[in-house]
Amino acid sequence: MSVRKKKLIYLTGFMGSGKSTIAPILANTLGYSFIDIDNEIQSVSGKKIPEFFTELGESRFRELERRLLDRASRSDECVVSLGGGTIANDANLALIKSSGILIYLKADVEQILHRLRNKTDRPLLISIDGEKLSAEELRQRVSALLAVRESYYNQADVTVRTDELTIGRTVDEIVRLIRIVADED
Ligand code: S3P
Repeated sequence: MSVRKKKLIYLTGFMGSGKSTIAPILANTLGYSFIDIDNEIQSVSGKKIPEFFTELGESRFRELERRLLDRASRSDECVVSLGGGTIANDANLALIKSSGILIYLKADVEQILHRLRNKTDRPLLISIDGEKLSAEELRQRVSALLAVRESYYNQADVTVRTDELTIGRTVDEIVRLIRIVADED
């Protein structure tokens, strides 16, 4: 007897790549439910992410992120929007790859910088006093994180360049590519 494979789609990509915008639209298009790991962290902890980092530190954040990923990985017919750093951990990557299809929303560095230039809600991209970084500091921080993470993002089953497509076209492209990947299984 064949066992139907779970239908779980994970969206990864750097901060500002559009995961949280695309995920609910993709879920709606597929008729799936949707989980945003960052939102879950905020609702379980009762803290906004910058507050969580300041009060409890990054390692506690990563622990909670891991627990919520574990819970999300048991879902079916669901789109999961990961945090930009969720995947940069071998155990998380293995769990994601074994439980669903991984989509990398790939944005060009210039686009990422443009989208994040005025944001102060990403604790990894602000100064220790919670201030905005200069354009040059932001570029260096983003480049350093991307250099570490690229090899994780590149483990995706499907890569979609978000800077070349509108949101609607990105969703259509993901749906088309998911069908190809699912047929190969
Ligand atoms: C992080 C990305 C953020 C959030 C946290 C850490 C990261 O999510 O999880 O600030 O390590 O890249 P988004 O990618 O949704 O901004």
